[in-house]
Amino acid sequence: MNDKPIGIFDSGIGGLTVAGEVMRQLPNENIIYFGDTARFPYGPRSAEELKKFVFQIVEFLRGEEVKFIVIACNSASSAALEVAQEHFYIPIIGVVESGARAAVQVTRNRRIGVIGTKATILSSAYVKAVHAFDAGVKVFQQVTPELADFVEKGEVVGKEIERIIKGYLKTLIEDDIDTLILGCTHYPLLSATIQKIIGKEAVLISSAEEAAKEVGEMLTRKGHKRKINEAPNYRFISSGDKSKFLELGSRFLGREIKNVEEIKLGQEGN
Ligand code: DGL
Repeated sequence: MNDKPIGIFDSGIGGLTVAGEVMRQLPNENIIYFGDTARFPYGPRSAEELKKFVFQIVEFLRGEEVKFIVIACNSASSAALEVAQEHFYIPIIGVVESGARAAVQVTRNRRIGVIGTKATILSSAYVKAVHAFDAGVKVFQQVTPELADFVEKGEVVGKEIERIIKGYLKTLIEDDIDTLILGCTHYPLLSATIQKIIGKEAVLISSAEEAAKEVGEMLTRKGHKRKINEAPNYRFISSGDKSKFLELGSRFLGREIKNVEEIKLGQEGN
């Protein structure tokens, strides 16, 4: 039994899709969510830079005495999960492995597509993770650099976003994939539009749901679940201006956010 909070972080508010699933699947757990909104987006940044950010945030969350950390960002997971796990004693998981495993379980024609930021796709983290489960699966990747920006602005439906998604999915549809990994924690908010374009036969895999399942399994196996049957405590922290977080956060989370703290880590842009 362990009553300490789970720490969850992302470059912005996208990781709230993961936090929302953790709240749904593990309703007793206390959670601290950190959105590095001052340094959003992570997608175009180098692996070196992302490692630095991840180390800073993990240090911060350790200071808040979390029991477990979820890197709820594919870009940061792809660049820094391994080094962070090597460096820190606290258990840390990312969002790539759980999504890859679910996709391998689901695909029937063994042709999987992945969409994500530049950092995620160039790292080939999903290709490696999928092949660790089934080396014979064909993985088709597509960088979708503009999508997280649209979602972070709250623009998840409409003609413009549909046109952009159509362009991104064209080759993947030609490649005859039957499963698409939403390799960015911002993308579950675009599920309806993506499904409409790719067709209802294709299965969309959301890193949010899969990562939350993994959190539950880890806590159960380690005996670290919170047993107290009182309402859990949720804290939301933003490294940048909290007004946007407050405005859009509830939609991402699927429940109301009443308070957001602003805490700066390092210098903006560094
Ligand atoms: N949510 C981040 C991810 O899962 C991407 C957004 C960004 O570029 O910061 O990759």
